[in-house]
Amino acid sequence: MSLMRLAYASEATFEPKPVEQGVEPNVARILMTSRRNNGRCDLVGGLYYGDNRFFQYLEGAEEDVRKTYERIKGDSRHRNITTLIEEPLEKRTFSNWSMKYVPLSADVRRFLASHNLDSFDPASFTSRQCEEMIELVRSSSQNQKLVNHDGEMVTRQKVQAYSLGLRMGLLGAAVCILGALVFAGAML
Ligand SMILES: Cc1cc2nc3c(=O)[nH]c(=O)nc-3n(C[C@H](O)[C@H](O)[C@H](O)COP(=O)(O)O)c2cc1C
Repeated sequence: MSLMRLAYASEATFEPKPVEQGVEPNVARILMTSRRNNGRCDLVGGLYYGDNRFFQYLEGAEEDVRKTYERIKGDSRHRNITTLIEEPLEKRTFSNWSMKYVPLSADVRRFLASHNLDSFDPASFTSRQCEEMIELVRSSSQNQKLVNHDGEMVTRQKVQAYSLGLRMGLLGAAVCILGALVFAGAML
């Protein structure tokens, strides 16, 4: 199986929400879908969103990366998609994170300042700047925002366990009511 890595830049088409109102809802939805889909085919990477622009890095099996990129390119939530890196990869460079999300953090602000850049405009990044961004994704300290496949599985198992417990509880209650009715009937 051949591996590849890909990075692109794009512009969001939606109106940005003020940063202090938390994670932009459009981005939150994109992340949910990405984590679900990418986890299934072992695609890893990271998504930066800031100044209404995206920078995304993906690595995994070539076929999966290409298929996913085709879907992403057809998404109306962004435009002016510029491919920055598209090349074979010898071995995976990320651990098991499905899709890291990094908002414009202090790390990225420092990176921009060190290159004398006023705003986050990944379409104009040089290849060295792209590599630095990927390294920031890899070593991101925003761990609380990360979801890994195992975590998702644990949550799913918990939901299944709860619904089994609920069913057993309802069954027990039904048996008790039936018993009470039979008892009441016998007393009359
Ligand atoms: C900036 C951006 C990044 C995205 N990244 C991914 C991604 O990594 N994986 C993914 O499956 N979908 C991603 N999407 C969403 C896709 O465009 C598409 O909506 C989604 O794959 C459809 O999945 P579904 O058929 O399971 O609903 C992204 C969309 C945008 C706008």
